[in-house]
Amino acid sequence: MDLMEKITALCKRRGFIYPGSEIYGGLTGFWDYGPLGVELKNNIKREWWKDMVYDRDDVVGIDAAIIMNPEVWKVSGHTEGFTDPLIECKVCHKRIKADDEELVKTHEKEHGDKSTWTEPKMFNLLTEVYLGITEPKQKAYLRGEITQGVFVNFQNVVDSTRVKIPFGIAQIGKAFRNEITPGNFSFRSREFEQMELEFFVKPDEDRSKESFEFWKSERISWYKKLGIKSENLRFQDHDKAHLVHYARYATDIQYNAPFGWSELEGIHHRGDWDLGRHKLTYKDPDTNEEYTPWVIETSGGVDRAALFFLLDSYTEENERVVLKLNPKLAPYKLAVFPLLANKEDLVKKAREIYQKLSRYYYVAWDSRGNIGKRYFAQDEIGTPWCVTVDFQSLDDDTVTVRDRDTTKQDRVSIDKLEEYIDNKLSSLT
Ligand code: GAP
Repeated sequence: MDLMEKITALCKRRGFIYPGSEIYGGLTGFWDYGPLGVELKNNIKREWWKDMVYDRDDVVGIDAAIIMNPEVWKVSGHTEGFTDPLIECKVCHKRIKADDEELVKTHEKEHGDKSTWTEPKMFNLLTEVYLGITEPKQKAYLRGEITQGVFVNFQNVVDSTRVKIPFGIAQIGKAFRNEITPGNFSFRSREFEQMELEFFVKPDEDRSKESFEFWKSERISWYKKLGIKSENLRFQDHDKAHLVHYARYATDIQYNAPFGWSELEGIHHRGDWDLGRHKLTYKDPDTNEEYTPWVIETSGGVDRAALFFLLDSYTEENERVVLKLNPKLAPYKLAVFPLLANKEDLVKKAREIYQKLSRYYYVAWDSRGNIGKRYFAQDEIGTPWCVTVDFQSLDDDTVTVRDRDTTKQDRVSIDKLEEYIDNKLSSLT
């Protein structure tokens, strides 16, 4: 099995990601997150919000509606320009995205020299929905990027908070695209989640470039800080021919996935495209100067981050599979076990510890099988620490804490467990 197959199987088997509506044969491009997957995604989103909103005094958050007045998408240029080129193989009629070079190459290899393509046709990526109960129903769109909700609320945020340019608006939420070729597991889906910052600056070439470089560096550092190996991340500038309609210039943060270097996050200089089109301006409260701000955007995919954190942390060593996830991202922070499931006093003490720690962390409980198997089961889902209540615990109120990565064990006083875990967590960068 290659790495993608191993991760896909692990995700299904252990409850990270399941195919969407699987019992009805699934639906291409839709995925459901299981009990561990939802924790991983929530942890990613929490870390992002903490770093992008709480740790900064120049960013505020919003949560806009998914369905907006369709006029928004006309004005923003999406009904016209939010398109992908589709080509069809004349041999087998498979349709793919013309600018997906990897896919085109792989397909051409399958057919040898015989593969020829139709001329590219542009397809709009917006997903239509119909509202109301009487005909004609009102046509609207599921948002193709979460971004427009920020722009249409620009004035509301300026009027209702104390932000002053330069400042940012952050948002996390679902977006939908009628992708031509969903694939590579959850990498390209039709429903996915984005975490975005729109940072508003004065319209100035040098200062906006400075901000663009600042956010590039912040964002790549964020992924590294949370554990993605440096050698698996790189920037890839967009060439002019492939620039999306709203961008003056743009860079992707790419991940070295098993299916090739792939976009994880986009950093875009959107200039005054959006606020200009929505006819929104900003009046400096100190100087009364009025202008259309420029926007530097960081736009990451939560699902892609989850997939790449899983791929990057997957390790096989000495017969065990370990997800070496940063403990901040791990679904469970801890697991608690009684050494033996049939010794009542061990189970009782372990249960008390489990209940106490569950008030602060998401904790796994396991009393099945032998201790070695339980460690292996927790390693495979990335649980950083396993707490075992053994016979010594009954005498001196201490437990063993086993570290996922080193497999070393510490003996820790039960009343010092929280402090022990908190110290470990706060020592992470
Ligand atoms: N607001 C800008 C914007 O939406 P984008 O480069 O089209 O920019 C940003 O998308 C991020 O959203 C991507 O880097 C990727 O992580 C995620 N994304 C985009 N399309 C996706 C899809 N079909 N499936 C999963 N994630 C996707």
